[in-house]
Amino acid sequence: MAKHIMTLTVNDDQYEFAVSDTDTLLDIIRNQIALTGTKRGCTTGSCGVCCINNDKGESILSCLTHALEWDGESIYTIEGLEVDGELDSIQAAFVEFGAVQCGFCTPGVLMSAKALLNKYPEPTEEQINEGMAGVLCRCTGHIKVKEAIRNDFRIRQEKLRAVAADE
Ligand code: FES
Ligand code: FES
Repeated sequence: MAKHIMTLTVNDDQYEFAVSDTDTLLDIIRNQIALTGTKRGCTTGSCGVCCINNDKGESILSCLTHALEWDGESIYTIEGLEVDGELDSIQAAFVEFGAVQCGFCTPGVLMSAKALLNKYPEPTEEQINEGMAGVLCRCTGHIKVKEAIRNDFRIRQEKLRAVAADE
């Protein structure tokens, strides 16, 4: 199958890939740059475990997105959520509230939650339910995931206060 050369910025690092017409973003981030945090689940858009974010912080289902359509664009995967070894507030919230069990869905759930929180920093219950409707977790029943999302704002504020106190 013919290959095309494309560039893509992933977690602020630029890459060049040889891709086929049918390669998805999920294929190239897992197979070509070994960022395997993003999981391959249903590959039909039903489970959300392949969720990554675009450069506006919106979620994308990487299993359904043709890589070539993203030539020259930027994406963020779960590996880009932590900065300088420090967990993002939503990751810290997942740890605090035990929102992780087997962990298979967790990268996609976190990236979906991050997209929700980018849009609504203090989401209502309705916004949480709507924003998280596309990702499935078979272990947690979503209860602890929602608890973590509800507490992200508080954790973010605590982090900001800690940084201000250090200055
Ligand atoms: S693997 Fe993409 S939605 Fe299930
Ligand atoms: S933690 Fe196991 S599927 Fe979500």
